[in-house]
Amino acid sequence: MRIILLGPPGAGKGTQSERIVARYGIPQLSTGDMLRSAVSAGTPVGLEAKAVMESGGLVSDAIVVGIVADRIEEADAKAGFILDGFPRTVEQAKALDAMLAQKGIALDAVVEFVVDENALVGRIAKRAEETAARGQPVRKDDTPEVFKTRLEAYRKQTAPLSDYYAGTGLLQKIDGMKPVESVTGDLTDILERYAATSAS
Ligand code: AP5
Repeated sequence: MRIILLGPPGAGKGTQSERIVARYGIPQLSTGDMLRSAVSAGTPVGLEAKAVMESGGLVSDAIVVGIVADRIEEADAKAGFILDGFPRTVEQAKALDAMLAQKGIALDAVVEFVVDENALVGRIAKRAEETAARGQPVRKDDTPEVFKTRLEAYRKQTAPLSDYYAGTGLLQKIDGMKPVESVTGDLTDILERYAATSAS
């Protein structure tokens, strides 16, 4: 099964990805996590991405497409994957289409989390507090100021993907404002329809 989770920052993409990874035995490919690892490791990609991520903007399409192209070649992604945070621009979506076409594979579904944007800054603030309380490093982009820029980037550059995927017939929308368990239930209801047919 090959799916994309689409939604603004704080919509619950990462939370839900973690919950469905085990159920379907496919990896979560989070470009945010990959980029944060690159920043921590000080790789050339990380050095280029660091300031952009900390400001809340989007890293260049070329960098992100490159890391996804490498990642989906890995053995654990052969049977499927959950894309979390990618694509984020129409250019990235087109690059993904080309990547998959070249491999002779196709997406099963794009699931968009529909959320009340006013609630998201509160979720991000809570995540920052909880992370700090565990003694872990807080994401530098989890501040109210940077969150505004992240949301703006979503509205301008990522929200058009909703129409892009609606046009392909792949788009499904779920209510991301329900409690986490309910969102998982709605998501798995959708995914069950594809699980059997895309096992190959
Ligand atoms: P990335 O790491 O992808 O961050 P994001 O999309 O901004 O997403 P978040 O991780 O903040 O939110 P989420 O939807 O995963 O929500 P979560 O489940 O964590 O990207 C970071 C940066 O990397 C970007 O700004 C950009 O610079 C760069 N980048 C990444 N990909 C890129 C790309 N493709 N192109 C260019 N640049 C890229 O939940 C958030 C909180 O809410 C948690 O505390 C959770 O417990 C809580 N929560 C979740 N669901 C619920 C619920 N239903 N009810 C109540 N609380 C909930």
